[in-house]
Amino acid sequence: MNDVNLNPETQTDVSKLEVLISRQQLQERIRELGQTISADYKNRELDLVGVLKGGFIFLADLVRELEIPCRIHFLQASSYQNRKTSSGVVRLSHDLQLSGKHVMVVEDIYDTGLTLQRVFEDLQSQSPASLEICTLLSKKIEGKVPLDVKYTGFEIENRFVIGYGLDYAERYREIPDIVCMD
Ligand code: XMP
Ligand code: MG
Repeated sequence: MNDVNLNPETQTDVSKLEVLISRQQLQERIRELGQTISADYKNRELDLVGVLKGGFIFLADLVRELEIPCRIHFLQASSYQNRKTSSGVVRLSHDLQLSGKHVMVVEDIYDTGLTLQRVFEDLQSQSPASLEICTLLSKKIEGKVPLDVKYTGFEIENRFVIGYGLDYAERYREIPDIVCMD
């Protein structure tokens, strides 16, 4: 742990950061997503795969808006390693077995798409009955890895955001709103 970051004088004062998406907006949109997904998956059981760590709060809120039976799983993906830009190398860790299941990946943010592409290909190789992606945020940037994302909460500009599960160097995940760090 870097002691410098623990010094209150150098710690970012999060109350001064711009709120991009408020907790009320998050709640409303996630309720809509839950209704849409419940309608689309009527009479099917859904296996949700949350991408740790960033997707943990989104998944927790989303499942409470679903009106269909579901099972909850997680996998660990890591690429950023305390930086604000992707290292390009995505490591995955899980022991999932999803053959024949209706699977939905639940991710915090579709940025370059490298993470989601890696997760999607990995899960697809297990031959699920269906595989879809649900992301809370999608950044409007050039040159994203093209992916068929069925459910998107919010499209955002190319800003570095934290809060609601998203971190900078493992901090700020607990902030209830999505705020801009740049
Ligand atoms: P890629 O570029 O692979 O990025 O689509 C996906 C992963 O990178 C993290 N990420 C962010 N984390 N604020 C964050 O706190 C951001 O603006 C941001 N952009 C990408 C995130 O963990 C995501 O899973
Ligand atoms: Mg992260």
